[in-house]
Amino acid sequence: MTATPQLSLPAQHGNGLRLEHVSKRFVNAGGDTQLHVLDNIQLDIAPGEFITIVGASGCGKSTLLRLILGLEETNEGRILLDEKPIKGTGLERGIVFQDHRLFPWLTVEQNVAVGLKNAPLSPAQKRDTVREHIHLVGLQDFTASYPHQISGGMAQRVAIARGLVNRPSVLLLDEPFGALDALTRTRLQRELQNIWQQERITMVHVTHDVDEAVYLGDRVVVMQPHPGRIRRIVDIDLPRPRNSSDARFIALRDDVLSDFAEVS
Ligand SMILES: Nc1ncnc2c1ncn2[C@@H]1O[C@H](COP(=O)(O)OP(=O)(O)OP(=O)(O)O)[C@@H](O)[C@H]1O
Ligand SMILES: [Mg+2]
Repeated sequence: MTATPQLSLPAQHGNGLRLEHVSKRFVNAGGDTQLHVLDNIQLDIAPGEFITIVGASGCGKSTLLRLILGLEETNEGRILLDEKPIKGTGLERGIVFQDHRLFPWLTVEQNVAVGLKNAPLSPAQKRDTVREHIHLVGLQDFTASYPHQISGGMAQRVAIARGLVNRPSVLLLDEPFGALDALTRTRLQRELQNIWQQERITMVHVTHDVDEAVYLGDRVVVMQPHPGRIRRIVDIDLPRPRNSSDARFIALRDDVLSDFAEVS
């Protein structure tokens, strides 16, 4: 197999994403007890890096993405993007959820255009940018289709196009392929990697699938629960595209799996 060179050099300037001693607690509905969800998360993500996060259900992975997105605030610590503390949501951070969250009454093109609502672009620029991103995810023949007329995998591609349409420097992905069948998932993993290699943005990708984490990640962050902490960070020093039947891939996958199994 001829492997493409490992893309480890950041294409973008800036200092990336820095999580500094991040802790998050939620107060329960009665207001008398606190749930300590994230404890002292420390992570430096280089610009253009692909980070995957695995961990038991409830260990705070989605909360971590919501903090980076700016939908939640930290109780302690801070999150910096290119050395600036993040405040609320911003066009430089996009997100893709497990459920595509497309509007059923809008076409593929209109759904992607939703992502550009607040972008400082002319209508013509918006139209071109939307088309370009629909092309990027290979849906140029479906621009006028409605969500119910396309498959789950295609809908997730639309969600990825919408997440990327503002050309964010960071794309957050919360189990984006979790609801897809195995074949579609494998295809979309490959496509996401191609998009990342083309666009060179920073990816923070949460998954339950350890194979997916090892296939996509420059580093795999293994989290553990109660409270959510980083247990270990595993470097995936394999050329891309990776082959999941390669002995080194299997060894790394088994290594992460053993960790993951212990804490689940
Ligand atoms: N807004 C909220 N208010 C109160 N508790 C919350 C809130 N959001 C999340 N939690 C709690 O925080 C904990 C972590 O939730 P989170 O969704 O981040 O976990 P997760 O690692 O993404 O789990 P999963 O793998 O199942 O998606 C859970 O116990 C959850 O109930
Ligand atoms: Mg979650």
